[in-house]
Amino acid sequence: MISIAEQGIRSFIAIQLPQELRSALHELVQPLQRLPLNVKWVPESNYHLTLKFLGDIAPGDIGSLGAQLHALADRECFTLSLGGWGMFPNPKRPNVFWAGLGGELETLQQLWTNLEDCLSARGYPRERRWRPHITLGRFRSPDRLDSLNAWLEQIPSFDHIGSFTATGLTLMESRLSPGGPNYHPQSFHEFQARVNTVT
Ligand code: 2AM
Repeated sequence: MISIAEQGIRSFIAIQLPQELRSALHELVQPLQRLPLNVKWVPESNYHLTLKFLGDIAPGDIGSLGAQLHALADRECFTLSLGGWGMFPNPKRPNVFWAGLGGELETLQQLWTNLEDCLSARGYPRERRWRPHITLGRFRSPDRLDSLNAWLEQIPSFDHIGSFTATGLTLMESRLSPGGPNYHPQSFHEFQARVNTVT
């Protein structure tokens, strides 16, 4: 609960993508940005994997939240890949255009479940399900979807964009501005290095 004296910090918890993958993704998306679509495209620097949107949190809660994220991060790094695309809630009347994830998805899902358990104990409403994705654009209207579908049919490169190591959890502040949100990491909670077992 945020008191009147406190200014809330608009926050979310994310896994960040390495710069090379953000660039690779952006290169694929660039031709789509020239199509006659009514979409607000996410800038390359803002591509991320959201685990939980928290909304406004009280500055006084950052410390204890950080401690919980630190405990949650006590697990090994894991590998994810980017590939595939889709639209929420459905391709006929989409709100969001996204790139999908592959790789160690069970590990990712387990992490998300542990995070939900933790956050629901802090009073955050539980999500029923979660579909990991990287938001690339948000539709203002569904006009000219035919041009998008025609383009996507031609580009098999969306199937496998690249792999990366998920190295930790980031508590991110999202500052709203007329040009769109600006993201500022508040804290980073690093996973453990992977122990390679030689057999
Ligand atoms: P998404 O793009 O992965 O769907 C930071 O604002 C992130 O939090 C967004 O990128 C979005 O994740 C997620 N989010 C979920 N609910 C939100 C809301 N009500 N307002 C803003 N962002 C929200």
